Amino acid sequence: MADALKIGIAGLGTVGASLVRILQDRHEMLATTCGRAIETTAVTARDRNRDRGVDLSKATWFEDAVSLARDADIDVFVELMGGSGDPAYSAVKAALERGIHVVTANKALLAAHGIELAKIAEEKGALLNYEAAVAGGIPVIKALRESMTGNTISRVYGIMNGTCNYILTKMEKEELSFEACLKEAQRLGYAEADPAFDIEGNDTAHKLSILTSLSFGTAIAADDIYLEGITNISIDDIHAAADLGYRIKLLGVAQRTDSGIEQRVHPTMVPYDSVIAQVDGVTNAVAIESDILGELLMVGPGAGGNATASAVLGDIADIAKSRPGAQHVPAFGRPTNALLPYKRAQIQSHEGGYFIRLKVVDRTGVFASIATRMADNGISLESIMQHSKQLMEGGEPQTIILVTHATSEHSVRDAIKAIKGEGYLVGEPQVIRIERPKAN
Ligand SMILES: NC(=O)c1ccc[n+]([C@@H]2O[C@H](COP(=O)([O-])OP(=O)(O)OC[C@H]3O[C@@H](n4cnc5c(N)ncnc54)[C@H](OP(=O)(O)O)[C@@H]3O)[C@@H](O)[C@H]2O)c1
Repeated sequence: MADALKIGIAGLGTVGASLVRILQDRHEMLATTCGRAIETTAVTARDRNRDRGVDLSKATWFEDAVSLARDADIDVFVELMGGSGDPAYSAVKAALERGIHVVTANKALLAAHGIELAKIAEEKGALLNYEAAVAGGIPVIKALRESMTGNTISRVYGIMNGTCNYILTKMEKEELSFEACLKEAQRLGYAEADPAFDIEGNDTAHKLSILTSLSFGTAIAADDIYLEGITNISIDDIHAAADLGYRIKLLGVAQRTDSGIEQRVHPTMVPYDSVIAQVDGVTNAVAIESDILGELLMVGPGAGGNATASAVLGDIADIAKSRPGAQHVPAFGRPTNALLPYKRAQIQSHEGGYFIRLKVVDRTGVFASIATRMADNGISLESIMQHSKQLMEGGEPQTIILVTHATSEHSVRDAIKAIKGEGYLVGEPQVIRIERPKAN
């Protein structure tokens, strides 16, 4: 049997401790499958004295991640600390500069520095593997990077943040407000004490930027993503969506268009009978549409110690099985000098269906005026409905719901501007984009 693969792990939290446990429990099985043993020979975290429920007695403890990456006698550096800056950035860079392979679950780091790190990996003949960074245990990176080579991808989209999906599912199933569901998510440990990063869509955006690069062969453009979180979604929107045959999900969508690549993260209405609409709670899903394979949809655990460690382990096992001197898979699917510049398609040019919820004063002629303003902007309506009682002079403001056929964001924005000018609108309109799977 070949020499053992020596790994150094920086970060022994939820994912790191699960990984150490699995490597110990399945030592024999992994040695048989990979043709060589996998040994954890070096570790680090912030607090040396914390009991992590795993045996670390055979591993050398390093005081910090950069010195582990720089000095430890290892074949693979596994980064499980998180964060786009230091120590993760410097440690990963130090390992790659030594020609040491890197496995990481850190989407924030890759979104910020992925291409720079991939270039160093390439120059030094090292691998940069990061299956766990997007959609946790779902093997979407491998699908895009390896299995779908040769396909031209037209759209990739998915539910990639378990916290948001848990909140939206709970709002719908238990008729609770956004705030109540967020509190419950925090109590159960699904949401951070500061949940902004998840609920504002940034976490999904980081993951989407990686999928975009792999799908379209472009440089990562994590700062160039249209972003809307779920904080404005009300129980009224969820009810209205259900009445119309839709569910609301926070989707990350990257799409090839004539004017460039659209990258957007926003609450989205998906047809109730589509598979993605049925993905509930903390589960993740990613759909990839391509010319040769067609539509591929993967659903599974997007987070959690074991599910994430499973993906990290797969990356480590790939390295254990690789032959010395073999040609490496480039980190983002193609050599960094062959990555195309990213050309952003403006959100204004996005074409699709829209759900629009308007609150209006109960004045005669409002219905007709709204329909006219829509028509003026070339928008054809699939439905227009009054969500409560008849409009009656002098009564409470009423809700009107519109669903459009495919139109442009530009037209919708102009129509709303015109409606605002009529003086019967109360508050801000709610606009939710509709996304249809290819088959729908
Ligand atoms: N948890 C998930 O479900 C999940 C899913 C997908 C991807 N990920 C990614 O996996 C990575 C790890 O996540 P996690 O949930 O395991 O995080 P975590 O539970 O917070 O653990 C982080 C670990 O990193 C250590 N650490 C933090 N800052 C450090 C520093 N400056 N120097 C040395 N060690 C430091 C911590 O040390 P102490 O223990 O001593 O504090 C801890 O062991 C992140 O990139 C995350 O985005 C996580």
